[in-house]
Amino acid sequence: MPKKIRLGILGGGGDSLIGVLHRVASHINDNYQITGAVFNPDFKENMDFAKEIDVPTDRIYVDFDTFIEEEMKLPKEERIQVCSVLTPNFLHFPMAKKLLDNGFHVICEKPMTTTYDEAKILQDAHQKAGTVFAVTHTYTGYPMVRQMREMIKDGALGKIHKVDARYYQGWINEIIHDQEKRSTVWRLDPAKAGISSCIGDIGVHAFNLIEYTTGLQIKSILCDFNYLYEDNKMDVDGTTLIRMSEHVKGVIRASQVATGEENGLAIAIYGEKGSFRWEQERPNFLYKMSDTEPTQVYKPGHAYNSKLSLDGTKLPAGHPEGIFDSMANIYLGVARAIRGEDYNDGEFPTIVDGVRGLNFIESTVASHKSGNTWIDLD
Ligand SMILES: NC(=O)c1ccc[n+]([C@@H]2O[C@H](COP(=O)([O-])OP(=O)(O)OC[C@H]3O[C@@H](n4cnc5c(N)ncnc54)[C@H](O)[C@@H]3O)[C@@H](O)[C@H]2O)c1
Repeated sequence: MPKKIRLGILGGGGDSLIGVLHRVASHINDNYQITGAVFNPDFKENMDFAKEIDVPTDRIYVDFDTFIEEEMKLPKEERIQVCSVLTPNFLHFPMAKKLLDNGFHVICEKPMTTTYDEAKILQDAHQKAGTVFAVTHTYTGYPMVRQMREMIKDGALGKIHKVDARYYQGWINEIIHDQEKRSTVWRLDPAKAGISSCIGDIGVHAFNLIEYTTGLQIKSILCDFNYLYEDNKMDVDGTTLIRMSEHVKGVIRASQVATGEENGLAIAIYGEKGSFRWEQERPNFLYKMSDTEPTQVYKPGHAYNSKLSLDGTKLPAGHPEGIFDSMANIYLGVARAIRGEDYNDGEFPTIVDGVRGLNFIESTVASHKSGNTWIDLD
């Protein structure tokens, strides 16, 4: 029985949104042991949280620099092997860069960095380090998303003509309409979030989902933002026209002010032979449509699914698995990569996806600012 991988956590404290998803996901397939952390910049809160969730406090560090310094003093067989970076966006780059430079594997939240330049520097550092680097575009771990990818790869839709990805949330309404709140939350502060709120936070997931499922690259975009208030510097809504080639086009619709919407990520991919439609809030139903046959519904855990999809289900068909399992599938792929085992390249998004994401985010801002012009991605 292989030993558990020693996992470090940066950010993701008891006060955070995403910490619990990573902690639970890392445990689901019994591959990781949380061995050390800086859950929080406040040392008391950091220690209190470690005690609360029963992580030994001898490797709870006062800050990230101390984390690296102390871990590097340990023999390799005791040292933390992989670190999850779950802090606000502006800390991803300095943390991930130093982790790579010191030979750690990295699991990094999206957006991978706050600028495209940083993303490329990180890619160089990763090449030198030769360690495993995953970017947690969580939705790629859903069995039915994986099924879409594999069926499209096998030609189920024929040539793709049109893609429509939508990511609608309403959570920022409560903040954006309150002058005090909109000037204090980190997601609307360019110094902490980067140059975009809506696209950087959720539009980039939709972008990644399109490239993940279709296997096609988005070549150029034209974007229109809405900021709602003069004193707000960050987009809270953005519609982006996309072109993959002369005859493959589509749209990415993203909003944080879509009142009443929760986590409304959905994708539709239209091809010459058929189409797929999938929604994150009903992740276990993948609709395959056609002009000539009744709509088919694919569901997880059935033998008709691809190996990659079946690898992402743990229970027999009919036992709903959700967002925790989806993230757990990404952690499972990373564990295989760290152990040098075989894995499918659809098991987790990599630094290449992270770089593509930043290229997209910066291009949407450039497009909006230049009066809604077409911008080519690299
Ligand atoms: N994959 C997804 O679907 C998804 C969903 C939500 C958030 N995210 C990403 O996860 C990241 C965190 O988002 P969140 O919503 O959890 O933010 P949050 O503000 O809720 O939590 C941030 C956490 O980081 C800690 N932190 C801040 N500075 C730190 C430092 N210097 N050292 C250590 N810890 C520090 C905070 O104490 C807090 O625990 C963001 O990059 C966000 O884009 C991804």
